[in-house]
Amino acid sequence: MPHRPYVIDKLISAKTIAARIEDLAREIETSYAGCERLIVVGLLRGSFVFIADLVREIDMNIEVDFLEASSYGDSTESSKEVRILKDLRGKIGGKDVLLVEDIVDTGFTLKHVTALLESRKPRQLKTIALLDKPSRREVDIKANWTGFEIPDEFVVGYGIDFAQRNRNLPFIGKVRFTDEDPC
Ligand code: IMP
Repeated sequence: MPHRPYVIDKLISAKTIAARIEDLAREIETSYAGCERLIVVGLLRGSFVFIADLVREIDMNIEVDFLEASSYGDSTESSKEVRILKDLRGKIGGKDVLLVEDIVDTGFTLKHVTALLESRKPRQLKTIALLDKPSRREVDIKANWTGFEIPDEFVVGYGIDFAQRNRNLPFIGKVRFTDEDPC
């Protein structure tokens, strides 16, 4: 449970997210044109809403798989140590793969997971992140596609949590700590 009371200020509306996903889907279709099948790998748990909306916009033969990496736990600070908690079910060797991440923050997670998937020799591996916080980057990495660049704020909603809360918000909001009880 979060230790301090907080309120959520809306940052990106559901409508804005949906419009951006349509554009991203067209770019992805163009980039993978001619591929027989696209393996879309969702990084759990934060990408589950994004991946659900994204795959329904992409007009291609798609397979979905999931990978779970360690996250922030109950904190708002990255641990920098990335552990794989759940591996893919399928093999990706020789296949066309798109890795879907919720947020690129320090970049440790994307870097680690990309290296892991590359070691399995996919035909091609590209990456997409719904959100990017470039000012927080500690390792040199950027997703091939980014939904929105955001400032250094802790965000929730649209699948993204704070200590497992607020994943079900339909929009992206930023967490603002308050000493007052929001209720
Ligand atoms: P990185 O390894 O520091 O780039 O962190 C990436 C992961 O940290 C993301 O996949 C999220 O799970 C988590 N994360 C980073 N920023 C936030 C945030 O603002 N809210 C919730 N989770 C976040």
